[in-house]
Amino acid sequence: MPFCQVVKMLYLCSPMQKKLFIESYGCAMNFSDSEIVASLLTDKGYLVTADFKQADLILVNTCAIRENAELRVRNRLKEFNSVKKYNPSLMIGVMGCMAERLKSRLLEEEKSVDLVVGPDSYRDLPRLIEEVEGGQKAVNVLLSREETYADINPVRLDSNGVSAFISIMRGCDNMCSFCVVPFTRGRERSRDPESILAEARDLLAKGYREVTLLGQNVDSYKFASVNFARLLEMVALLSSELRVRFSTSHPKDITDEVLYTMAKYDNICKNLHLPVQSGNSTVLGRMNRGYTREWYLDRIAAVRRIVPDCAISTDIITGFCGETEAEYRDTISLMEKVKYDFAYMFAYSERPGTLAQRNYQDDISAEVKQTRLAEVVALQQTHSALRTRTGLGKTHRVLVETISKKSAAQLSGRNSQNSVVVFDKQDYKKGDYVNVLAESCTVATLIGRPVTEAVFR
Ligand code: SAH
Ligand code: SF4
Ligand code: F3S
Repeated sequence: MPFCQVVKMLYLCSPMQKKLFIESYGCAMNFSDSEIVASLLTDKGYLVTADFKQADLILVNTCAIRENAELRVRNRLKEFNSVKKYNPSLMIGVMGCMAERLKSRLLEEEKSVDLVVGPDSYRDLPRLIEEVEGGQKAVNVLLSREETYADINPVRLDSNGVSAFISIMRGCDNMCSFCVVPFTRGRERSRDPESILAEARDLLAKGYREVTLLGQNVDSYKFASVNFARLLEMVALLSSELRVRFSTSHPKDITDEVLYTMAKYDNICKNLHLPVQSGNSTVLGRMNRGYTREWYLDRIAAVRRIVPDCAISTDIITGFCGETEAEYRDTISLMEKVKYDFAYMFAYSERPGTLAQRNYQDDISAEVKQTRLAEVVALQQTHSALRTRTGLGKTHRVLVETISKKSAAQLSGRNSQNSVVVFDKQDYKKGDYVNVLAESCTVATLIGRPVTEAVFR
């Protein structure tokens, strides 16, 4: 065995090697950031562990979007702190949006925390860790106008080896009045398309078959002359075997050009996440969303016209400031019109520092918010079931992701519209594309059998 290999093995097996445990909350962008941080720290010799009790450094990548998201993290910190009793040198760091929102206050409020690092300061982690090792507490929450981590090759965490996230931009320049993101993630900036393509090529070479392009508002992606439609096309052209998804689109910015690009390439998945938030134009005005109900419905009509087989999902908030019963009913009627395939639904949660917190009263009671939310959730259940049923009797091209949760004899994957499809394993494996005829379903899952003759959805 050559000497360098022996050294490498010793290094890999060394009990001295520091272990990093990293846990993520919030949106896909946060999960993607954790992979960047894992890359930065494995480069510095850390080994990623799945067991926080073994860790020398615990990093919690946090979300600040609703009060509940922050409460969850605070409870989790208590659990992590209990490890400090038998491992006093354990270091606990809070990263992400809650770190950015609360800054050094987090050190005062959560005594277990040693380190606070905001989304644009991850390159500074090695220095911050050294500071903590020297007995200090460490904070860096500087936001940047340029940082995109374009040169970092993420370490894929919890990966199924088939699908991966690629961040194409950071920050957000919209000022939706309910939203904390512009304060926690800073100004919008787009990443060099060449670095995005290089990352996608690398994933493809490693056997990945699906990438999801991520941004808070992908439609405003712009790098030199490359807009989002062009970027989407460039990624789609890399290989017909690589599926492309993206999130999130913004109703005020999504162009027909993006829709035509989706329609043109089979490997761009027919699935659009287009958060509406409310079905009432006055509420949308107070939310500062930049569109009306009519505008939104016109965009939906464009999707149905240009990409007829496209699944549409959304985000909805109930009980925003001043939302009357009549205004709320407009959300219900919009849902009835669109019949979304899928939705994320939330009760409004006031966030400190946002435009809504400064300008409007959070005057809808928790009870009313919850009653409205329950109705929205129930209605969406019926629509999801309806949409899933339209897939019955059709053949779906399924990208296999994993063994089914319910049975080891079955595989699970998704079709282009993002519905989960389950079928008997036979000789198929992860990463295969399989044509599956859907024969039965639950609310959100199609169940079928592999076929050779294909009648596609
Ligand atoms: N960039 C995306 C969404 C980011 S946040 C967009 O523009 O749609 C994800 C979702 O969280 C939002 O779409 C919204 O529905 C919800 N959300 C954001 N702030 C919230 C708040 N203060 N209370 C409740 N839900 C909120
Ligand atoms: Fe928040 Fe609006 Fe930006 Fe989405 S577009 S992240 S909701 S400010
Ligand atoms: Fe949460 Fe930050 Fe994402 S607030 S939703 S983790 S951008």
